[in-house]
Amino acid sequence: MGHFITFEGIDGSGKSTQIALLKRRIEQCGHRCSLTAEPSTGPIGVMIRQCLSGRMKADEKTMAALFASDRLDHLLNETDGILSKINQGIYVICDRYILSSYAYQSVRVSLEWIRQLNSAALDTLRPDCHIFIDIEPETAIERMAKERFHTELFETKERLTEVRNRYLELIGQLKKKENIIIINGNQAIEQISDDIWQNISKFF
Ligand code: ADP
Ligand code: TYD
Repeated sequence: MGHFITFEGIDGSGKSTQIALLKRRIEQCGHRCSLTAEPSTGPIGVMIRQCLSGRMKADEKTMAALFASDRLDHLLNETDGILSKINQGIYVICDRYILSSYAYQSVRVSLEWIRQLNSAALDTLRPDCHIFIDIEPETAIERMAKERFHTELFETKERLTEVRNRYLELIGQLKKKENIIIINGNQAIEQISDDIWQNISKFF
């Protein structure tokens, strides 16, 4: 059996950067490793991205349901589902999972309902470890401004601060049930990568 590791954090927190570095380390240990992300590249994920860019419109409850459906399809679909990769012994790293729905959607939609919507996914595949990269919203915005021509719907400072606070609150509530590691994302890329490895190298 492979392992399932998820990365969480506000937009621009450095998830993609760290995921690529972690994949390299896992492969150096001789394991197969597959990277994926949510929203997924499947049909529901494509619809979600159209809503995030403003091309399509959907209210917040519909969005919460779409994220939960995309997650199940991402786990279970027969073309490139995560579950079948784990069963083949592949280590899967996913950029965002359950905690993203809890943190982002619960700013406007009831957390209890979001947890119910996502319970099927969590019962199907519980991450061995959720890595939360914690960063100051100002720093995330500065980093993103360097590389992006447009910002998506969620990326305002106020919104990022709200979401970061939700993440920290939720992690406080969930830490007994879930294996969640908080990493200081305000540091240099190499230091963050070393901190992550120190926490999870036991899986490899
Ligand atoms: P995310 O995937 O969470 O949105 P990225 O990994 O794409 O974040 O990082 C956002 C931007 O910040 C990218 O331009 C990336 O090169 C840069 N970046 C990532 N980590 C750091 C870091 N520790 N220090 C400085 N810049 C960083
Ligand atoms: P993503 O492409 O990961 O953005 P970034 O690389 O900038 O971090 O995710 C797109 C947006 O979708 C992001 O703003 C967070 C949001 N999102 C939710 O609101 N709920 C969810 O369940 C997921 C997976 C993502």
